[in-house]
Amino acid sequence: MTLNQEFLTDFHHVAEFGATVRNGVDRQAATPEDKLSRDWFAEFAKNQGWEIRVDHIGNMFALIETRPGAPYVLLGSHLDSQPLGGRYDGAYGVIAGLHAAKNIKHRLDAEGVVPEFNLGVVNWFNEEGGRFAPSIMGSSVFVGSMDESEMLKVEDLEGISVAQALESIGYLGTDARPEVAGYAEIHIEQGRILEREQINIGAVDYSWHTQKLDIEVLGEQSHTGATAMADRHDALVAASKVVLKVHDVVESFPEGSIVSSVGRMTLEPNSPIVVARRVHLVADLRAENKHDVLEARRILIDQIARIAEQHEIKINVADFDVREIQYYPEEGLELVEKVAANLGKSVRRIRTMAGHDSVAMNRIVPTVMLFIPSIDGVSHCEREFSTDEDMLHGLDVLADIGWEMSLG
Ligand code: GLV
Ligand code: MN
Ligand code: MN
Ligand code: MN
Repeated sequence: MTLNQEFLTDFHHVAEFGATVRNGVDRQAATPEDKLSRDWFAEFAKNQGWEIRVDHIGNMFALIETRPGAPYVLLGSHLDSQPLGGRYDGAYGVIAGLHAAKNIKHRLDAEGVVPEFNLGVVNWFNEEGGRFAPSIMGSSVFVGSMDESEMLKVEDLEGISVAQALESIGYLGTDARPEVAGYAEIHIEQGRILEREQINIGAVDYSWHTQKLDIEVLGEQSHTGATAMADRHDALVAASKVVLKVHDVVESFPEGSIVSSVGRMTLEPNSPIVVARRVHLVADLRAENKHDVLEARRILIDQIARIAEQHEIKINVADFDVREIQYYPEEGLELVEKVAANLGKSVRRIRTMAGHDSVAMNRIVPTVMLFIPSIDGVSHCEREFSTDEDMLHGLDVLADIGWEMSLG
């Protein structure tokens, strides 16, 4: 098998962990399915003779030390997925990282080169934030923008904490975190730009401003049959109006400048014969400009107060998961353009509307973020798809980026 075939075989093999019937994966953070993909990652590293470390928030590092004591250039992404998610989001970057690192190590050995930096591959814990919010958790703890002990206490809908979940799959580690000199991540675009323009590689130049609103609607529990309509304080009716408001407010901005949806709604007690007491919603607001997010948030908070008044119920709104716009360094962008040109791949600069571990890493070390085309631009669903050919173009570019970054 050529290196490329080995990569494709591994990539589609990992998609069997948590495989869904419609070609996707359901491999949420710290579940038994996530454990299978983690065990596979560790096995891959072990077979290469690389060191494996697992830190206290479940991040996994596969480390290749060629210059004793030097910091590491890390390649990677995340193996966890959304519920009923796709097989490409995250996993592509980790598996491409492993194969790129293997390729770079062979090249270093063959050419007898001792690089400036050591090389490693990382599988970040809980990038998706579907089971445990906020998202981008492992890499944010790594860079110090989220508090480790606070994150270990975050609970899923069943009341299981991050610490308990990691412990139960054997990945609540105790290893020291490696010192890092640089980071490169490859990912599917999750949008339509590269596909439409038939471009092989996106060099990510900045990320959108994002923030979430945690909305708690508190009504009054009562009988759906026996309570007079006038006496009801129905949390679900009010919550439904909030959902529509989120949609309407965003639609009132120029098209494409801001996006949002309420993606989570849980209600209590959730019985066919009980007027809902409490509804919990999360709205995810993202825009090119911070100002638009703040303006939409201001309008929403005002409208939500009116809905609460109208239904004589209480609605609490809290901000969370605020991520400022991040600009990726110019040197990294130029490196991507140079490497892509040398390999004969087309490249363009592109922004990311989605969040990535690189957004966290970019705060502390020189970071490169690459995209490959997504078919139909769909992601966070089983229909997510990128071609094997596009994945291989990306792998070639990532391997050369990792090579250049490790030489320093
Ligand atoms: C998570 O996948 C995000 O895009 O924020
Ligand atoms: Mn991802
Ligand atoms: Mn994702
Ligand atoms: Mn993401």
